[in-house]
Amino acid sequence: MPETKRILTGIRPTGPLHLGHYAGALENWLGLQSEYDCYFLIADYQVSDHAGDLPRVRDAVWEVALDWLAAGLDPERASFVIESGVPEHAELTTWLAWFLPVGMLDRNPTLRAEMDAIEEPDDATTKGKSVPVAFYIYPVMQVANILLPRAHLVPVGVDQLPHVELARATARRFNRDFKPIFPEPEARLGRVPRLLGTDGSAKMSKSRGNTIDLKDDADAVARKVRAMYAGPPRGANEPGRVEANPVFSYLDAFDDDAVEVSDLKERYARHGVSNAELKNRLTRVLNELLEPMRQRRAQYEGNMTRVREALEIGTGRARAIARETMEQVHDALDLDYLRKYR
Ligand code: TRP
Repeated sequence: MPETKRILTGIRPTGPLHLGHYAGALENWLGLQSEYDCYFLIADYQVSDHAGDLPRVRDAVWEVALDWLAAGLDPERASFVIESGVPEHAELTTWLAWFLPVGMLDRNPTLRAEMDAIEEPDDATTKGKSVPVAFYIYPVMQVANILLPRAHLVPVGVDQLPHVELARATARRFNRDFKPIFPEPEARLGRVPRLLGTDGSAKMSKSRGNTIDLKDDADAVARKVRAMYAGPPRGANEPGRVEANPVFSYLDAFDDDAVEVSDLKERYARHGVSNAELKNRLTRVLNELLEPMRQRRAQYEGNMTRVREALEIGTGRARAIARETMEQVHDALDLDYLRKYR
């Protein structure tokens, strides 16, 4: 019997998850959890940009776990892993850092953009901060995250592709120079690579305050959709450009009725459709998607012992495979220095 292939992917614990996480990641993971041995990581080593707010990180670990359960990830089949609960991540990061030139980090476009955003945030209200060393090396740790369970597949959003490329290059190099331990991991993109923010900006993100959260109640969803940016000002009976109205990109992402959506687009382009009609439809679609999640979330919120168990058991499973890998790594690098005079 061929072994079940493994998946490793992760999310940074910075707060409750939003529709961007769902469309870009969770929805994809839901389909993969029955076919693969999945390790879903809550990457708390990766949030050094929130070093000034550890209580937020602590809360976010639970929020993420609850959102995962609410979305329907199944802790019996998939392992929910707290990154720092597997300190082998830190050890492997250190060894791998031996073999990665700093130029690889300096040229990483995602890292550069994120470091710029920390140093010079674009909302004028927050002051720039300095970038922690741990943040600079997080792509190395992400490589360690992926290689530690010897993952075959890494479902991610487009912005994470440079990190997966780094993991592939690192696996190849290690396998060639030492011992062939690591599968060369492949990236798998979600159905919706990037969801616009409700303000129309390029990305849904908590720091911009333009999210719809998975745990938002029906009224909050209605309110946020009503306030959504819907393209340049336009009378209700004035034809509009579909591409200029982000409400359509949300309908594309979440409305299952593709025929009606394409009808709506045609009417919009020819005769105009009121933004109120579009937004009412979107509100209904989103609330239909989110309602079962709210119910599952409420159940788990009433039974936090089960949430804790999911995290403990998953982290334990990850630790077991991590130990296995580290034994192989020690052997490959021949790190048993004391053996000489044993
Ligand atoms: N850096 C990823 C993000 O910001 C989260 C992450 C951490 C991750 N470790 C990972 C993604 C390992 C894929 C694989 O979304």
